[in-house]
Amino acid sequence: MKNKNIVVTGREVKLHPDEQIISKTDLAGRLTYANRAFMRVADYAEPDLLGVQHNIVRHPDMPRGVYQMMWETLKAGNEFFGFVKNLTANGDHYWVFANVTPDRDLGGEPVGYYSVRRIPSVRGVQVASALYAEMVAAERQAGPARAMEASRALLAQRLGGESYERFVLALQLG
Ligand SMILES: Cc1cc2nc3c(=O)[nH]c(=O)nc-3n(C[C@H](O)[C@H](O)[C@H](O)COP(=O)(O)O)c2cc1C
Repeated sequence: MKNKNIVVTGREVKLHPDEQIISKTDLAGRLTYANRAFMRVADYAEPDLLGVQHNIVRHPDMPRGVYQMMWETLKAGNEFFGFVKNLTANGDHYWVFANVTPDRDLGGEPVGYYSVRRIPSVRGVQVASALYAEMVAAERQAGPARAMEASRALLAQRLGGESYERFVLALQLG
């Protein structure tokens, strides 16, 4: 569950260049696993995380439209790549480049999802910060009922026909 009592500090925590933050969820997005890097950077202990919705690290600067796109991609059976700004337990934030993937059992049945996150490129964070700020503004202006539509339209306009995946991979891999 999102912790509404966290006060955003504006302070950034950086991942180590060789560090990966890994988590797994069930099909409903509840955490079933978090590695040590997750706990160190997000500043939570394991019992605070297991069984809890992944939006525990949701940052208010992230557009709703990005998560809508992520869930659409995952539910279609595809993997998602993207720049994500997350909130730590004490209100700091950390940027990651995330790869989120459906997790299946040996019979191919979906059992959940997992995400591997690495340190993002400097350029990726610059571009994503500006784009997400525009999307959040569009969502606020449109109001709750039309927020997603407004921010997805803005994103499509900024991508100019390119897929979000190609766009972010180019920013991350250069
Ligand atoms: C494997 C997996 C990893 C996720 N990682 C994050 C994450 O790092 N940060 C985040 O805010 N949401 C993450 N989410 C998405 C959340 O489940 C949720 O959709 C998002 O935080 C939006 O929450 P809200 O609907 O309460 O605004 C992840 C979901 C899955 C399935």
